[in-house]
Amino acid sequence: MIRILFFGDVVGKAGRAGLRTTLPELREEFKSDLIVANAENVAHGVGITLKTANELFASGVDFLTSGNHVFDRKEQTAEVFEVLSGRLIRPANFPDSYPGKGWEQISVQGKKLLMVNLNAQVFMEKQFSGEIRSPFITLDRILQTAPKSDIIIVDFHSEATSEKRGFGFYADGKVAAVVGTHTHVQTADAQVLPQGTAYISDVGMCGARQSVLGVKTESALNRFLTGERTALEVEEAGEIEVGAVLIEIDHASGKAKHIQSFLRVFPAPVL
Ligand SMILES: [Fe+2]
Ligand SMILES: [Fe+2]
Repeated sequence: MIRILFFGDVVGKAGRAGLRTTLPELREEFKSDLIVANAENVAHGVGITLKTANELFASGVDFLTSGNHVFDRKEQTAEVFEVLSGRLIRPANFPDSYPGKGWEQISVQGKKLLMVNLNAQVFMEKQFSGEIRSPFITLDRILQTAPKSDIIIVDFHSEATSEKRGFGFYADGKVAAVVGTHTHVQTADAQVLPQGTAYISDVGMCGARQSVLGVKTESALNRFLTGERTALEVEEAGEIEVGAVLIEIDHASGKAKHIQSFLRVFPAPVL
């Protein structure tokens, strides 16, 4: 059995502290062979920098996926993808002119494992002016053109649970797991689908617990109450939550046998 720990969107300093604090014992507890985290919010809530990505690697994360916020640190994005090539992916259905790759093949326990990142379209097209291609068709293209792999894991970065579940069933039997990210709130629907694909609509996040998706409550409320796009501040104080799934994959068939979600909450460590 191959055991993969996948952590939801890591938000800022609190999220990084959450992984640094919990990973040693979680790796031991779950005997994981691979640790993956979604890093689109790792640099103070928006985007990825080399420093913050390296902090995750130093904490024990092996591989990073991302999503719609991955290009928010424009001046650094090209360098980040160049330096972290092979360990960081961005949605494959974003324009090809953007930095980075949408999939990578890595080796785990002697098996070829393909990590794929896709972004949804529902409620998310506006940000990219309709540039996001269909994740469904892009998945099929990747399955046809990527190097042959024993195990395929998809991070599906999506707002709507309907599109997530639809995508899960579309991918069922074609990949070992579809792991939802982006909404930062863990869903209670972790399951192995009928054709052997592990699925969850959203893994949740790693970040400040007393917050709105990792953002200070007052600054999030300010937007709702004024109707204006006022600045959002990342919450760094208080308890931290770490949301993740453990996926167990059969070594021979490359299909999922089990998926379980968990959310660990603990007092704030010294940041
Ligand atoms: Fe996120
Ligand atoms: Fe996102």
